[in-house]
Amino acid sequence: MEFRRLGRSGMKVSEISYGNWLTHGSQVEAEQATACVRAALEVGITTFDTADVYAGTKAESVLGEALKSTRRESLEIFTKVYWPTGKGQNARGLSRKHIIESCNASLRRLQTDYVDLYQAHRFDYETPLEETLKAFDDLVRAGKVHYVGVSEWKASEIQAALKIADDMGFDRIVSSQPQYSMLWRVIEGEVIPLCEKEGIGQIVWSPIAQGVLTGKYLPGQAPPEGSRATDVNGGDKMIARWLRDDVLERVQRLTPLADEAGLSLAQLAVAWVLANPNVSSAIVGASRPEQVRDNAAAAGRKLDADLLAKIDEVLDGVVTSDPAKTESPATRP
Ligand SMILES: NC(=O)c1ccc[n+]([C@@H]2O[C@H](COP(=O)([O-])OP(=O)(O)OC[C@H]3O[C@@H](n4cnc5c(N)ncnc54)[C@H](OP(=O)(O)O)[C@@H]3O)[C@@H](O)[C@H]2O)c1
Repeated sequence: MEFRRLGRSGMKVSEISYGNWLTHGSQVEAEQATACVRAALEVGITTFDTADVYAGTKAESVLGEALKSTRRESLEIFTKVYWPTGKGQNARGLSRKHIIESCNASLRRLQTDYVDLYQAHRFDYETPLEETLKAFDDLVRAGKVHYVGVSEWKASEIQAALKIADDMGFDRIVSSQPQYSMLWRVIEGEVIPLCEKEGIGQIVWSPIAQGVLTGKYLPGQAPPEGSRATDVNGGDKMIARWLRDDVLERVQRLTPLADEAGLSLAQLAVAWVLANPNVSSAIVGASRPEQVRDNAAAAGRKLDADLLAKIDEVLDGVVTSDPAKTESPATRP
């Protein structure tokens, strides 16, 4: 495994991290979830990403249980707050009330006294930004959170948060967690240039486009049994946008390029996001331990300029790059 600094912070993260959205507490049984976490630790992954909302809070409990016998100081545990964790007006969003309550609940479920990174899962237009940042800063001062970050915030929102933090002496955001893959490049236009300037690292999600960039979904054919596209707990809806024949055909055309580079398609997808120096870590998901091992082998693999250009040629026309697609709900969900 290789390690990178999380933005300009002094904390290092494994360049491949393991996330448990849609899998733990939902798609796979606890035993399988634990086997994936064990495989992640075996290949040298030290960074784990979850969220209060995943599997209706169950994903944090599964991860906490799976990691509880591992030395805490050897791990970086990340979680998030914003999406609803229960009924009620205040069980959501980025108010001071919800942030503090949700953080305490996450710590209980994760069986830890602190998380290494606490992230605003989206931007909350119904809470003053100062209130959110002050609550985050208080958690840092209380020792419950080591660093703070955001997810899917626009460049202008990150910029506004940095200004408030600098004016008020609050802890600065060190990370941004956007969707980023060969197919979804919306952060390249605005978020990455700002973050490079401000020392913020990207921890990117769905680098394999939820499994689509493994090439296992074939155009015109039913999805393989047991894959996310057949997961009726919600995975099928999440992946649906990528299951278009035009996209799947192009992905198949990446196979000879991956072969030439001596990589599996999944490894090519992970190495592709890591080729961007502003990316601190690629968060991969996995429903099986062998997927973790396959994906983690992308660590340290460099792609040359010629290969990157050929990938762009193959995917021309199916890549999304519009910065306006970095979005948060207009009102709290
Ligand atoms: N901040 C946010 O808003 C946000 C949103 C989404 C995700 N995330 C984070 O990002 C993490 C990763 O997201 P993701 O799960 O969509 O990432 P991904 O790595 O793009 O997709 C993971 C899924 O693809 C399939 N897969 C992965 N490797 C494979 C391989 N080698 N061979 C065959 N199939 C393979 C598996 O699904 P099947 O086996 O079921 O097909 C696996 O669960 C999440 O766990 C979460 O921590 C954050």
